[in-house]
Amino acid sequence: MATIYTETVQTVRHWTDRLFSFTATRNPGFRFISGQFTMIGIKINGKPLLRAYSMCSAHHEEHLEFFSIKVPDGPLTQHLQKLQPGDELLVGAKATGTLIQHNLLPGKTLYLLGTGTGLAPFVSIIKDPDTYELYDHVVLAHGCREIAELGYGEQVVSQVLEDEFLGEFARGKLLYYPTVTREAFRNTGRLTALFNSGKLEADLGLATLNKDTDRVMLCGSPHMLADLQTMLEGRGFIEGNHTHAGHFVIEKAFVEK
Ligand code: A2P
Repeated sequence: MATIYTETVQTVRHWTDRLFSFTATRNPGFRFISGQFTMIGIKINGKPLLRAYSMCSAHHEEHLEFFSIKVPDGPLTQHLQKLQPGDELLVGAKATGTLIQHNLLPGKTLYLLGTGTGLAPFVSIIKDPDTYELYDHVVLAHGCREIAELGYGEQVVSQVLEDEFLGEFARGKLLYYPTVTREAFRNTGRLTALFNSGKLEADLGLATLNKDTDRVMLCGSPHMLADLQTMLEGRGFIEGNHTHAGHFVIEKAFVEK
């Protein structure tokens, strides 16, 4: 069995000078659970260079989709941002990761909290009909510096809600909460501040975040994860993992370079 599949880039969309998304073919043998990541990359001077990327595509979709940062001198992303349809993409055959339902105790509201490219695993999760079978509400909160950086998330949420099949599951359950920190917008401030003030839940008409009913998945920068973990643990939430299901789970938004 191949450990790395060679796929073909199909589409590329640049959202801002820092963010882009792209799709690629998917080997039918490549299996994953919504929320997982794998290693992807390209050959540079004939040598493969791979980094961890969460799948944005649903596990049932025929193609693969990824959301990436662009760093001018980043070892991988300085090259990856130049991808064009038809180019080769290397995809590791083994998906893994902690942002999966198996690691969470049953609950009523699922909070998916992502900043920047930390949105990626949640794109896959909101496209999975099973997510809506398990929860009364699924909150997707995405924190970015600027409004333009919300573009990809906004598009995916609209597609999910308008989808003939998925929309039936998601409508009335999927609550989208975009927020920006460096310009004026309808929601502003960091996710930490929005939970500390209770504004996020109040704006959505939900009860204050609590461990008895709510489950949380976190994906973002190390600082964002540390601050939100401290807030959750202060409210009695316990971190889940593959051996013990808990109230919340964490994954770093991988590629910073
Ligand atoms: P801020 O603009 O105040 O730094 P980045 O692109 O740097 O990963 O940031 C994405 C978003 O995450 C920004 O809105 C940023 O806010 C926010 N952010 C950065 N650090 C934290 C943190 N410790 N907790 C919550 N949000 C954070």
